[in-house]
Amino acid sequence: MLNQPEMLRRATEEVDTVVGSKERLLQESDVPHLPYVVACAREAVRLHPVAPFNLPHVSIADCTVAGYFIPKGSSVLLSRLGLGRNPAVWDDPLRFHPDRHLADNRRDLEEADLRFISFTTGRRGCIGSGLGSNVTVMLLGRLVQGFTWSIPQGMEKIDLSEAKSLFKATPLYAHAKPRLNPCVYFSLLKSMSYA
Ligand code: HEM
Repeated sequence: MLNQPEMLRRATEEVDTVVGSKERLLQESDVPHLPYVVACAREAVRLHPVAPFNLPHVSIADCTVAGYFIPKGSSVLLSRLGLGRNPAVWDDPLRFHPDRHLADNRRDLEEADLRFISFTTGRRGCIGSGLGSNVTVMLLGRLVQGFTWSIPQGMEKIDLSEAKSLFKATPLYAHAKPRLNPCVYFSLLKSMSYA
């Protein structure tokens, strides 16, 4: 989003409009009113998964999925990259483009159709998906609400190239300038017992 400041501006504007004050930090109850911030988080999860594969599962019976026969006892690995960056499902899949999620009108990071892997689905799907979604969106919302972000001097862009592990190949450096009333940061630190 730092590389495409228009996105950062839209997300910040959305949060500011919903919160409506420089003296209140975004809360979990604001998340349902943040379609664009949710779309940005969904796009991040789609394009930059934390690991190449989902946890392995073993089939307990012969079955056929999408035309593929999977014999009983097979280890089944779902590819996060293969799904999230699948050109048959996503237009221009390598482009970070949050707007593609807006038509889904979702306020969480779940993806029951497995077009990308977030919490997966079914009996072994994540039981904490609601909490995980809300906390992730709230964190992103608070980062854009709490700071004016900029690329450090001397750098043209944030380098997004990936190491083999899928993590960033180079460390992330960015400037964060506080933009809320200082009391907001102090009360947050206090609640975390840092001040
Ligand atoms: C952003 C946050 C989170 C993400 C991305 C996430 C993702 C996942 C994924 C991908 C799985 C594996 C599903 C599968 O194997 O098909 C999983 C399983 C699980 N998650 Fe989460 N999770 C998150 C937060 C949480 C939270 C907050 C809790 C609990 C409060 C939780 C509890 C669990 C449990 C217990 C399982 C195992 C379910 C089972 O095997 O039956 N997760 N999670």
